[in-house]
Amino acid sequence: MFKRIRSYCLFGIKAVPVSVEVDASQGLPGFTLVGLPDNAVRESRERVVSAIRSIGKVVTGFRTTVNLSPADLRKEGSALDLPLAIGLLVSTGELSISCLDKYVFVGELSLDGLLKPVRGVLSIAMSLARDGGVLVIPRGNAQEASLVEGLRFICADSLKECVEHLEAGGESGVSVAEGMKHFVDAEQNEIPDFENVVGMEGVKRALEIAAAGAHNFLLVGSPGAGKTLCARCLPGILPEMTEQEILETTRIHSCARRAGDAGEFRPVVVRPFRTPHHSASMVSLVGGGSRLAPGEASLAHNGVLFLDELPEFNRGVLEALREPMEEGSISVSRASGTVVWPARFMMGAAMNPCPCGFAMDPKHVCTCLPEAKKRYRDKISGPLLDRIDIQVSVPPVDTRMFAGNPKGESSAAIRKRVCAARNIQRERFAGTSVKSNAEMSSKNAHKFAMMSDSVERFAIAAAEKMALSARGYYRLLKVARTIADLRKSEKVNIDDISEALRYRAYR
Ligand SMILES: Nc1ncnc2c1ncn2[C@@H]1O[C@H](COP(=O)(O)OP(=O)(O)OP(=O)(O)O)[C@@H](O)[C@H]1O
Ligand SMILES: [Mg+2]
Ligand SMILES: [Zn+2]
Repeated sequence: MFKRIRSYCLFGIKAVPVSVEVDASQGLPGFTLVGLPDNAVRESRERVVSAIRSIGKVVTGFRTTVNLSPADLRKEGSALDLPLAIGLLVSTGELSISCLDKYVFVGELSLDGLLKPVRGVLSIAMSLARDGGVLVIPRGNAQEASLVEGLRFICADSLKECVEHLEAGGESGVSVAEGMKHFVDAEQNEIPDFENVVGMEGVKRALEIAAAGAHNFLLVGSPGAGKTLCARCLPGILPEMTEQEILETTRIHSCARRAGDAGEFRPVVVRPFRTPHHSASMVSLVGGGSRLAPGEASLAHNGVLFLDELPEFNRGVLEALREPMEEGSISVSRASGTVVWPARFMMGAAMNPCPCGFAMDPKHVCTCLPEAKKRYRDKISGPLLDRIDIQVSVPPVDTRMFAGNPKGESSAAIRKRVCAARNIQRERFAGTSVKSNAEMSSKNAHKFAMMSDSVERFAIAAAEKMALSARGYYRLLKVARTIADLRKSEKVNIDDISEALRYRAYR
């Protein structure tokens, strides 16, 4: 009998409808699989036949042809196991399902018939919510599927359970709204709190501004001064993710999942803080590779991409970040087409001022030769540095300040101010795709700064003196705009400009 089973395959972040056509007929027993399968798909036959045997059914002894259509799209991964199993069962008459057409199947099978979670289910669920149908998935993917409002789905732990559901004609959704809140709390608790950072008021202020306007930042200072510590505290002062942002970011993380990643896939509910190591390759940072998987820059979407020890990164790899920093997305071209990954992130970086690390330290002597210092700084290109709005030097903390283990202002308190400033920006940019001051265009940077003539004259004179580029000047205005938002002022004044200028001082 010929049967067609609906499924989806991933192409970058998009889910493309695929049908698994199975024809089982009398004749010499055999099995043919066509339609551009990759190795994982080709091997699925072995898993599927065992899994079916484990539930006491037999689908061998037929002449079976399977076609995956559309034939020109490369099918990869193990997600087609379940549709193939269902296809074999129905085409050999071992299972009968009413309204087979309304179901869409994805899932990997193990030899003993257990259903294992697969990547990209959120993308599939979003496509299906538009195309219509009932999604049948492994239970490990239920959390992410339930993020899509109005989606009808069935989840099961095993092929047996899945078959029972289908025979009963059942449909069930899983409500996980309560579970989500729990994740948010648990993950928030893992972020270090600014109250445990002693002193460093200047750095905290700079990071508050960066968080308030989603500005890129760079921390420069001696070893052990607390740069990495402060940056790690940052997610604790960023505003909560909106539902839309949770969907966008979870979708990317779901596509990045590797086969065999243990456990249930959890939606990303706290802004990502990605810290790729400085040995990271181009593919791991911006994405691509044979799986066309997203890179760290995309995994940081709606969050922070933090590059610790910035000069140690390969220069070519850093240059590749210039595109996403401007566009908010990354496109990867392949023979089969172009995949666009969203990548709108705040870029953070930390570095020492020189190879020995002590160039800015009053208590140590820098032993680096001027040549070595220059070579070290030259590892970071001017254009990249130009895109970093907030550049702060981090002086070493006076150890006497640690006496009595004093507490600073808590992250929660700082976050309140950040959120207030973000709310002002939301109103300012209502109806556009811009979300923060850092993202606004140069034209708007001038328009929204609302400077008086004297303030503008001051800003221009200062930019001239510091030899800022045109981009540098507008970025200065954007930071000043954020500083004014933090004090809830409509107009940018001289103090705002002066403070913003201080964050441009590192050259
Ligand atoms: N202001 C501070 N308050 C409390 N602890 C601090 C402070 N500064 C540094 N520390 C402690 O010192 C440790 C080292 O700091 P951190 O790793 O942030 O330094 P760094 O500036 O990143 O140094 P490097 O340049 O070597 O990477 C931290 O884990 C933290 O325990
Ligand atoms: Mg560090
Ligand atoms: Zn030095």
